[in-house]
Amino acid sequence: MEFSKDKKTIFSGVQPSGNLTIGNYLGAIKNWQDLQETHNCLYCVVDMHAITVRQDPAELRRRTLGTLAIYIASGIDPEKSIMFVQSHVPAHAELAWVLNCYTMFGELSRMTQFKDKSAKNAQNINAGLFTYPTLMAADILLYGTDLVPVGVDQKQHVELARDIAERFNQIYGDTFVVPEPYIPQTGRKIFSLADPGKKMSKSDENINSFIALLDSRDTIIRKFKRAVTDSDTCVRYAEGKDGINNLMTIYSCFTGKTMDEIEREFDGKGYAEFKLAVGEACADGLEPLQKRYNCLVSDRSYLEGILSNNADHAAYLARKMLSKVYRKVGFLAKNK
Ligand code: TYM
Repeated sequence: MEFSKDKKTIFSGVQPSGNLTIGNYLGAIKNWQDLQETHNCLYCVVDMHAITVRQDPAELRRRTLGTLAIYIASGIDPEKSIMFVQSHVPAHAELAWVLNCYTMFGELSRMTQFKDKSAKNAQNINAGLFTYPTLMAADILLYGTDLVPVGVDQKQHVELARDIAERFNQIYGDTFVVPEPYIPQTGRKIFSLADPGKKMSKSDENINSFIALLDSRDTIIRKFKRAVTDSDTCVRYAEGKDGINNLMTIYSCFTGKTMDEIEREFDGKGYAEFKLAVGEACADGLEPLQKRYNCLVSDRSYLEGILSNNADHAAYLARKMLSKVYRKVGFLAKNK
């Protein structure tokens, strides 16, 4: 595939660190597909980010390939987009080191994800967890990315990537494109079904708090039935009704209906009926993805073939940017 100079560039990624959830799907992956018609798209499985928290090695390998299968099953076309694994392109780690030297300790200390994750992993607050946002900035800046389609929880990291790019450009002249976050209106933050004040997360210990993309129909319906709501009985989008607001958002994402339409549809009906409808809409919405996933994941050589071709393509693009950066900061070029 040829990247066109006239099109804007998109970069995004998901960590293969757990079972991907409908949060990952509605906040990010679902929106990637449309962009590939009009943009140059790179979609990465960011395995190097995943090891900031301990991973089982065999499981990480399995999930890395599984995440690629989810991308393709969600409609990302290997003929149109570059899908690759982060650790296959060494320039990500190389640029991250340089960017670490242009990122302030204070900036990294303010990252809310770092604060949350270090609270959760108090015995393993490693340097990688702290400098993770500079690796993410490297991912984005390596490809001259214009837009980064993510959920709202990643906005702060994309803003840091902007600040780093601007700082570098100010010192060395125009080098990086300054990227913008691209966040959906509906689905920007899907909340936990067990605690609707918290983000739905693939690493949550309570499996009833999230819907995994590969959950069976029965499991999906059962989890929605148990979803925490409130003591009111009326399906309406309002302040203080976090659980219902979240279910309405999910229903809206899968059916395309507005909040007003949903309120009218469930006027005079109870929460039980509404929860069942949300479960069914979600299961119906995920069914085609699950079918495609099941076919793809059994074809390991097909998936590995995509990764190997695409890593070369991504590495070629990344190397050009890295050489430019090395020249600007004053690294001596090696004689050919
Ligand atoms: P990760 O793996 O936590 O999540 C992947 C994507 O899913 C979105 N997301 C959500 N959206 C809505 N509601 C939720 N509950 C929810 N949970 C997750 C995230 O916003 C994200 O878009 N640091 C990133 C991965 C990354 C990256 C990048 C992304 C590394 N390098 C470069 C973009 C560009 C992360 O941990 O995402």
